[in-house]
Amino acid sequence: MVELGITKYMNILAIDTSADETSVAITNGFRVLSSTIASQIRSHNVWGGIVPSIAKLAHVERIDGVVANTLRIAKSKKRIADTNDINAVAVTYGPGLSIALEVGIRKAKELATAWSVPLIAVNHMEGHLYSPFVQNSKGNPPRTASFPFLSLLISGGHTQIVLAKDNGVYEILGETVDDAAGEALDKAAKMLGLGYPGGPIIERLAREAGNSDTYHFPRPMMREESANMSFSGLKTHMFYFLKGEKGVQVDISSDLRNLASSFQEAVFDSVLHKFEKGVIRSGVKVWAVGGGVSANKRLRRRLRALAKTHHAQVYFPPYPYLCGDNAAMIGVAAHLMASRGDYVSDIDSLDRVPRARLGQELSV
Ligand code: KG4
Ligand code: ZN
Repeated sequence: MVELGITKYMNILAIDTSADETSVAITNGFRVLSSTIASQIRSHNVWGGIVPSIAKLAHVERIDGVVANTLRIAKSKKRIADTNDINAVAVTYGPGLSIALEVGIRKAKELATAWSVPLIAVNHMEGHLYSPFVQNSKGNPPRTASFPFLSLLISGGHTQIVLAKDNGVYEILGETVDDAAGEALDKAAKMLGLGYPGGPIIERLAREAGNSDTYHFPRPMMREESANMSFSGLKTHMFYFLKGEKGVQVDISSDLRNLASSFQEAVFDSVLHKFEKGVIRSGVKVWAVGGGVSANKRLRRRLRALAKTHHAQVYFPPYPYLCGDNAAMIGVAAHLMASRGDYVSDIDSLDRVPRARLGQELSV
């Protein structure tokens, strides 16, 4: 540990290239000193989803510039003097797109070696788990992560209810058995002829429909005891519903808002019902919500209402960029890993783990 004037923690340069954002941040404890996110959304939206080969190429083209920019900002704001002030490098090793992860890992190894600092390999979902507790450079918002807390991780790749018992001790209480909630929203948007990513577009249309539940689409697995959920049946239902094969004739263009809203309500009803099971099972009153879908205002409102009935406190990522993929949350998770002594001991053997699971040991 080094004293650097701002706080007593290490300065960590963190990298995330798990999907379609090339992201680098410098963090100190829970604080973000500098952050850059180069989004590829425009390169992928014409294809209606992420194209791995395009993602890899874009990461390769941008990674050096994004690292340089992040360092430049930290220096110009006098948060670090130079690269000698970087005490560790962190990188997402998984889960994510294999050929995209590879770009970040290669860069992280190169920087850790060049600067002779330790390397920390972070599970991307552990980053999302702590994203509600990430602070700006001044330490705002001044909230702290205290254990245990119950996390809802809701993104395009994952939908999980996780009990964070302690630093590094996580139990998955429930999760989707097929599509992620964000993925379901993206697919529904595609069926409705909307753009990518679909989540924010569905949110807007649903709001314009007053968040109605006109069509009351199915909510699978609701009667099951487990906190697991499923969204692929809902997606299939929507497909046949739009074809007029469910006994109702709809005109997509004139009824777009009600269709989007009904779909969104079905997804959120499932998520909230299962999350509440996790709440009851764990008895935990501090909740933290992360992942791309946590940006959704309807979801936030419904979770706040649920928190009120359970006398619980619910935290969301405090700044919009922390909902989606970003390296700041990776740096913060790396800080917690460093505090439990979890460093990569053999840099050469670190490799991507595209299907890494939260709480699974990585032995490198
Ligand atoms: O966490 P994220 O950026 O990437 C990963 O999947 O890891 O999440 C992306 C997902 C997409 O499915 C996108 O449609 C969804 O988050 N999303 C939203 C909103 N913003 C992004 N879903 C609902 N409402 C939003 N406002
Ligand atoms: Zn993510």
